[in-house]
Amino acid sequence: MIDEMTTVLEPSPLPDFVETKYVKDITNRALSYIKAGFPVHFRGVSGTGKTTLAMHIASKIERPVVMIHGDEEFTTSDLVGGEYGYRIRKVVDRFISRVLKTEEDMVKRWVDNRLTVACKYGFTLIYDEFTRSRPEANNILLSILQEKMMDLPVGRGGEEPYLRVDPNFTAIFTSNPEEYAGVHRSQDALRDRMITMDLDHFDYETEVAITQAKSKLSKSYAEIIVNIIRGLRESGKCEFAPTVRGCIMIAKTLKVQGITPAGNNGAFMQICQDILASETSRVGSKTNQNRVKEIVKELVEKHNVSKSKTIESRSKKTEEAYV
Ligand SMILES: Nc1ncnc2c1ncn2[C@@H]1O[C@H](COP(=O)(O)OP(=O)(O)OP(=O)(O)O)[C@@H](O)[C@H]1O
Ligand SMILES: [Mg+2]
Repeated sequence: MIDEMTTVLEPSPLPDFVETKYVKDITNRALSYIKAGFPVHFRGVSGTGKTTLAMHIASKIERPVVMIHGDEEFTTSDLVGGEYGYRIRKVVDRFISRVLKTEEDMVKRWVDNRLTVACKYGFTLIYDEFTRSRPEANNILLSILQEKMMDLPVGRGGEEPYLRVDPNFTAIFTSNPEEYAGVHRSQDALRDRMITMDLDHFDYETEVAITQAKSKLSKSYAEIIVNIIRGLRESGKCEFAPTVRGCIMIAKTLKVQGITPAGNNGAFMQICQDILASETSRVGSKTNQNRVKEIVKELVEKHNVSKSKTIESRSKKTEEAYV
């Protein structure tokens, strides 16, 4: 039985998920590697869609999903399981019911953790940010991925010390190669057992589609926002490149406040500067924030003016067509 401590997710399609040519292409390639029997690893900087893609692919596999987030503090038993607490067995002597005789004994209880559950039942494992865990904790994965065998600590409730991995078991990994405290270089042996797909920021079509889907703004407004963010990204002048999350934040704020990005709009400028200056700088980095605000100002002026002109002329043409 699966312990209540392990959360197993239903493989269901994600809300507002967009499937552009770019997304479909990566999905199909990943699914073909999985079909050939290999684990897939999405590697890319923040906001390149790694976690979302892993979940999307898991939903296509149509097996229950278990998810693990890499953690510096992880030990192998966090992944595999261990003896947790005590289970109290109570024996009530029903024959002498008046003399309520209870016998309690304490039994250490083995609890399978997520990795064991996924291997045992052939579920799909998503190991998000796996390089955040220490390599020693991840060593258990080597034989799982290669020999399809899982070594379990002895004393596991009298069960075999190893587990044959169910053939339906699939593993999808994600990692962020950016250098920051807490990320261990992924072990070479582990990386050699998976197919790594390097992800970059989304292409234009996908970035617009995601911005639109998440905010419900019109396509032309989503395009203005995406153009500004891509301009800032391509300027190469940010500490951290702005991501699709910046597009989503701006678009949702506009939607809620009923502000349009078209025309000479001070409120739109303010929202873009607030969101993008903070997204692309470390806390307290004032110089960088001010520089980003300057670039954003130029980009907002360039894009919403030129775009709103085309929107205006388009609507004029439409009006003319009705005259
Ligand atoms: N195909 C898609 N359809 C709709 N939204 C998407 C799609 N892909 C990504 N997103 C959205 O883009 C944002 C970034 O995606 P995600 O969280 O998957 O990136 P990530 O690479 O895992 O980032 P991090 O490294 O910061 O965890 C999220 O808000 C996510 O909902
Ligand atoms: Mg992620």
